[in-house]
Amino acid sequence: MEKKGLLIAFEGIDGTGKTTQIEMLAGVLRQRGLRVVTTREPTDGQYGRKIRQLYKNRKSVTPEEELALFLDDRREHVAQVIAPALALGQVVLTDRYYYSTAAYQGAAGHDPQKVIAANELFAPVPDMVIMLEAPVSLGVHRVQKLRGDTLNDFEQEETLARVAGIFADLKGANIRRIDGTGDAGAVHALVMENVADLLRAWQDNCGCGL
Ligand code: TYD
Repeated sequence: MEKKGLLIAFEGIDGTGKTTQIEMLAGVLRQRGLRVVTTREPTDGQYGRKIRQLYKNRKSVTPEEELALFLDDRREHVAQVIAPALALGQVVLTDRYYYSTAAYQGAAGHDPQKVIAANELFAPVPDMVIMLEAPVSLGVHRVQKLRGDTLNDFEQEETLARVAGIFADLKGANIRRIDGTGDAGAVHALVMENVADLLRAWQDNCGCGL
């Protein structure tokens, strides 16, 4: 399918503010008249629902079965949401994408580079990856204290330290690392700085978002 839109993935460990930042960026872009789709993984589809059931019982599947579930969920997400929106020239902002699989399933023993290669067989490479960075302790604090949530089986502190280490090692010209420790407004300003050139180049080239 021809890709005319723009795909921006937000990545980082839990509690780095991905969801807040996506909503803030989406608001600005919509005000500019762009057609924006916000979406997330795990999805609410058949595989995403199975993944959520693992939150309290991750050991009920093997690491291979777990990886397969995330890949199936993403295949469905790309086919049903991401690829059609890109074909229509829309801006797609996704809360997690295959870099999360590289980092989280990588922390569970899979080779992160092989995970990325397996994803890129079917998932479009994002135009930009906004990698929100914050110490694991801050992420955990935000999830537990501010959101009032308990940590699920994917979010235990030692596991998250390994996840953060893999996120930190990922390389790619499309990856922008942003300090996620500030307040939402400060982080949003950094996000805007990073996406500005990409948006300008994209609008100059196709004008399809206007
Ligand atoms: P999260 O963003 O917390 O989703 P929600 O709050 O909507 O349930 O993601 C849930 C967990 O899933 C998170 O701890 C990271 C994990 N995860 C993976 O292990 N691999 C993946 O490929 C993705 C997308 C998420």
